[in-house]
Amino acid sequence: MGNNFKIHHIVEKNVTNVALVLIGYILFSFGTANQAKAQSIIPKPQRLIQTSGTFKLNSQTKLYTNLKGPEKKLMDSYLTSLPYQFAVGKANEKSDVIRLLIGKLADTEDREAYCLKVTPEVVEIRANTGAGLFYGIQTMFQLGEGVNGLTLNIPCSEVKDEPRFSYRGYELDVSRHFFPKEFILQMLDALAYYKINKFHFHLFDTGGWRIQMKKYPALTEQTAYRTKEDLGDWWGDKNRFCTKDKEGAYGGFYTQDDIREIIAYASARQIEIIPEFDVPGHSRDVLWVYPELACEGTDPRATNSNELCIGNEKTFRFCEDILLELMELFPSNYIHIGGDEANREIWSKCPLCQKRMSEEHIINVADWQNYFTNRIEKFLASHGKSIIGWDEILDGNVSKNAIVMSWREEVSSGSDAIKRGHQVIMSPTSHCYLDYYQDCPYLEPKALLGYTPLKQTYSFEPIPAGTTDKSLVLGVQGNLWTEHISTIEHAEYMTFPRILAIAEVGWTQPELKSFDDFKNRTFIALEYLKNKGFHTFNLRSEFGSRQASLTPVNNLAKGRTVIYLTPYSSSFSGSNETTLTDGWLGNWNANGDRWQGFGGNMDVLIDMEQLTDINAVQASFIFVPTAGEFLPDSIEISASDDGKNFKTLYKKKIISDNTVHFDICNYGWAGKVRARYIRYQALKPINWGDILCDEIIIK
Ligand code: ACM
Ligand code: ZN
Repeated sequence: MGNNFKIHHIVEKNVTNVALVLIGYILFSFGTANQAKAQSIIPKPQRLIQTSGTFKLNSQTKLYTNLKGPEKKLMDSYLTSLPYQFAVGKANEKSDVIRLLIGKLADTEDREAYCLKVTPEVVEIRANTGAGLFYGIQTMFQLGEGVNGLTLNIPCSEVKDEPRFSYRGYELDVSRHFFPKEFILQMLDALAYYKINKFHFHLFDTGGWRIQMKKYPALTEQTAYRTKEDLGDWWGDKNRFCTKDKEGAYGGFYTQDDIREIIAYASARQIEIIPEFDVPGHSRDVLWVYPELACEGTDPRATNSNELCIGNEKTFRFCEDILLELMELFPSNYIHIGGDEANREIWSKCPLCQKRMSEEHIINVADWQNYFTNRIEKFLASHGKSIIGWDEILDGNVSKNAIVMSWREEVSSGSDAIKRGHQVIMSPTSHCYLDYYQDCPYLEPKALLGYTPLKQTYSFEPIPAGTTDKSLVLGVQGNLWTEHISTIEHAEYMTFPRILAIAEVGWTQPELKSFDDFKNRTFIALEYLKNKGFHTFNLRSEFGSRQASLTPVNNLAKGRTVIYLTPYSSSFSGSNETTLTDGWLGNWNANGDRWQGFGGNMDVLIDMEQLTDINAVQASFIFVPTAGEFLPDSIEISASDDGKNFKTLYKKKIISDNTVHFDICNYGWAGKVRARYIRYQALKPINWGDILCDEIIIK
């Protein structure tokens, strides 16, 4: 891309500092290995005291438990999967024994709470339920240090622990790209180890239907495979689905037996699988097979429309049939019914929807979606299930029973939902979207957008300021959407370590949290995960923030008034009128107060207040084409004494390189001029997306 001085801000990496940190870490881990291990648990327990001595867990260790019934069965199923096969111990066994004791804990009713006491002779875990015992075991394993693969040295300790929130979730989108059962099982192992207890399974969406259905087998027969693996390429191929036997077919699905196996595996690890049936938008897979469920006048196969027709009773019959089958498969009390990103305008043009809206005295399409959501909610409630929906379900008058999954940070949907009395699960894009870049995008595989490093995820506080009824916040969830993630390796890379931050946000009380301490524990966790075969992000070589964003740029424009000849966009307002001359460059992400967007042309004047000698003018723009963050097509910089008559200093046409997934480009002029006003025009006629500028620098 030709321009005068395009700057990539990744040159100032401080190698010396990285080396010192590494040497420090190695010394630290030599001197105090045992202690470091005892302090390495993720999520951090509420209380841990290390005492002296070690319990040696090996193939001679016995296990005694007073668990009974279904909880015993679940525990047995988990224990038999371990590399240690414990002999059955007696209740009065005095040494070399692990005791798992169920009974009422003295000062907590929490079903996931546990007390763990390790002495050289006995490991004793006590809990109110099998879930608490399971978490005590995970803490025990995290404490342990392997000797030769057969013996685990567990430092003597006393732990008293319980979670802050009951919902600690991970969402995986298997529609955009399919991930096999074996991978899901491995993920469940890792998630359980860090006390994640909900797996939100995004199974049906525009990328394909992923569970074989008894009543509607055509769904997987006709949409579980598609003509191209890459979604961009597939878009170019008109998003056509195909059958499995077509040459080059990409995709897959789970049989109902696969799903039962996944659920059983998860239950033995205290993870609840919550299926998502994303309706009434995101339903292209359904419409491919059943185009009659689309609104009148739309042809879903030709137009890529995603919305079900709510005016058609057949839609309700179809949805209820699917939900009945999902309820038969999934024991969870929750069914996620999606509800996000529906193009509601489609309903305002459909004769069937219009007729039914008028019969129901509904005048706007947000309420029309609500009519749908509330009917589905009632249907599920009549079967004893609760719905979860993305926060768009709040746009109308949704039933109080609906649980809101808050994702759009910009509409503070979490606090809105709480004020309206809904239970909420917090998963805002700002902290919890694991498909966003986790490091400098120049160095990372293509991601959706943004910049959400581990520290950002870790800093998340799920209870919005001013919340009076904190019990409405059920917890937190990290989401892995897979538009740009097609391999297991990449999915793991995006998940680890950020899901560990979600785990700690969900479990640990905020006053016990410290990012530096968490980061040290994360290094140990990443070693563990790598040894287990997971492909993780390399936190040790994290590049971090855009260097140029860390200190203000002193220049003649700083603090000057910006006169907007075109308005900035409301979705990227930055810090409003001061954004472009506050002296601060943006970081790797366009959200926040540093970057300002223009839904098309940016045309601004900087008023220098008096005639000023000027030698350079420049501005930088962020380019993330998949996110609709574009470069201008042309730049013009001009100068004026009176704000009316301008002399052009610089004119440039820009051709964006669409093979690049991220860039920050700087365009400017250098020379000599004396002027009061500088005009910076960055032009692009678009009806979708923005061009985003962080600063106009004048020297
Ligand atoms: C979402 O990210 N569309 C919930
Ligand atoms: Zn319709």
